[in-house]
Amino acid sequence: MNDGVQGVIGEVDFTTGDPPPHSSKTARGVANPLLFLRSWLAHPLRMGSVIPSSDTLNRLLLRQAWPAPGRAVLELGAGTGVLASAFVAAGLSQERLILSEIDPSLVAHLREKFPAATVIGGDARELPSLIPERWQGRIGSVVCGIPLVLLPEAEQRSFIDLINTVAPGRGFLHYSYCITSPLPYRRHGLTAKREAWTPLNIPPASVWRYQSER
Ligand SMILES: C[S@@+](CC[C@H](N)C(=O)[O-])C[C@H]1O[C@@H](n2cnc3c(N)ncnc32)[C@H](O)[C@@H]1O
Repeated sequence: MNDGVQGVIGEVDFTTGDPPPHSSKTARGVANPLLFLRSWLAHPLRMGSVIPSSDTLNRLLLRQAWPAPGRAVLELGAGTGVLASAFVAAGLSQERLILSEIDPSLVAHLREKFPAATVIGGDARELPSLIPERWQGRIGSVVCGIPLVLLPEAEQRSFIDLINTVAPGRGFLHYSYCITSPLPYRRHGLTAKREAWTPLNIPPASVWRYQSER
């Protein structure tokens, strides 16, 4: 789609593949609060929030997770697809999105909304065998929306291992409503950096970057 275009389109400088770091314009996703609410009513702990992520949070994530040219973004727990929409609105081709989601109604919604993306239904921990061959070894960034803080440490570990398997050495971004790190990162052998915080999300949210300790 827009890949390979030279110059600046909307938020993204295609000569570098990076969104401008201080742009104030928003690449908007179209939220679907009712669909989200229905999933929350069925599985509140799995959803972790009652409404979709805000445009502001998505913009912060997009800046941090914009992939290098030719690489894909993997989103774990893509929900209603608002972050994916923001990527597409900012110029990333749908083909470069790999969206993982466990809730079947959200999976159907994502498939309809992003027909050219790779939408993988089911538990994200099954992903290693499901990533299409063309993207193996070419995942540039990982965003984890699954509310890891609500899981026991052993389960958190299994998601961290999964990310290391499909995107070795890339680390991952994780958004959370906690005041401090949602993960006991030292016990998981990770370094942690809070990249951003916004009050313009319900609830206010932080963007954390976790990486394996060397
Ligand atoms: C905080 S919500 C994501 C919200 C999304 N940013 C939005 O605004 O629509 C977390 C998502 O992770 C999904 N999820 C939870 N556990 C999962 C798992 N094991 N594998 C894949 N997706 C999972 C939930 O179904 C939910 O859609």
